[in-house]
Amino acid sequence: MHFDAIARVPGDPILGLMEAYAKDSNPNKFDLGVGVFKDAQGLTPVPVAVKVAEQRLLDSQASKSYVGGHGDATFGRLICELVLGNESPLLQAQRVGTTQTPGGTGALRLAAEFIKHCLPGRGIWLSDPTWPIHETLFASAGLAVHHYPYVGADNRLNVPAMLTALESAPKGDVVLLHACCHNPTGFDLSQQDWLAVLEVVRRRELLPLIDFAYQGFGDGLEEDAWMVRRFAAELPELLITSSCSKNFGLYRERTGALLVSSKDAQKLLDVRSQLALLARNLWSTPPDHGAAVVAQILGDPALKHLWVEEVDAMRQRIAQLRTGLVEALAPHGLRERFAHIAQQRGMFSYTGLSAEQVTQLRERHSVYLVSTGRANIAGADAARLDALAAAIADVCR
Ligand code: LMR
Repeated sequence: MHFDAIARVPGDPILGLMEAYAKDSNPNKFDLGVGVFKDAQGLTPVPVAVKVAEQRLLDSQASKSYVGGHGDATFGRLICELVLGNESPLLQAQRVGTTQTPGGTGALRLAAEFIKHCLPGRGIWLSDPTWPIHETLFASAGLAVHHYPYVGADNRLNVPAMLTALESAPKGDVVLLHACCHNPTGFDLSQQDWLAVLEVVRRRELLPLIDFAYQGFGDGLEEDAWMVRRFAAELPELLITSSCSKNFGLYRERTGALLVSSKDAQKLLDVRSQLALLARNLWSTPPDHGAAVVAQILGDPALKHLWVEEVDAMRQRIAQLRTGLVEALAPHGLRERFAHIAQQRGMFSYTGLSAEQVTQLRERHSVYLVSTGRANIAGADAARLDALAAAIADVCR
């Protein structure tokens, strides 16, 4: 038969955890696996601003005809402003354009196809470690994947090693940088570190691809954009992927964008003509609903204000869970060992737990995290941090 030679492959390591967690009948289980925000009730809520925008769309949407290849122009402009700032000179000079994509992953895939087809021979440099889908997505698109050190076996950020590796990258190669809330480690670079990276990128003539999936989850919507805006101000060309999954809570609506900045408006038109063609071959035209919601929110000052408050509340909850967990670990003599959890940013923490300890946590305590020791801190329950800390202490004995 045609399919006889097809082998079964293991499922996605992150999404597989969602299924395993759902099947676990232990009422005291913890879901620290897939990167979704959870509130105090353990739910991943639809933000109120999104609900209001959806109601407006329901009442006013007159057509579901296709949006163009680059998506909705209003969404594109508003995302540019969110990412680069309202006053960005790039917007005024028409040096930046947006292509609406199915989520941040769609934006990454479009960027990968763009590099493969329009910048042939360029390799891509990923942090070690990085989000596992970065590894497979760029390889699937046919790019040569290289790595720069980021967090070592001691579970510490190693910026000098990162800079040394980037120095060795061939001129013209692409370097993927996590703007904030590094996935999977939660360790972010300081502003000073970013300036050092910028210097190497400029000198080695590398092309940055900035993955901006967690805007607002680190230090704030504006604060998290600092490195993106600095790179955009100082470099003539840049690729940026933006995701609305987390900060707008639109996960399943698949809402994101690829932003490209170019040396001038004319060259940008050339680049965008290629992106439209590539997107046509990938998904034809992007899904509309999530982007229409985002455009409603960002285009209405009152609704935007409500949304900013909701993002702030999500960020504050994660920050409190981080410090709360370290406090809860203290009576077990583990405060020092896990102090980094309070310093990391965003949803994720590279805890430093081994694969074996992760297995023990799951088998003995129904605590689910990725085998690399990555925990989604946003999945923890503030009322049960003592139980979580006791489980961690048990596997650390
Ligand atoms: C994660 O890393 O858990 C999230 O980015 C969700 C995903 O798609 O893997």
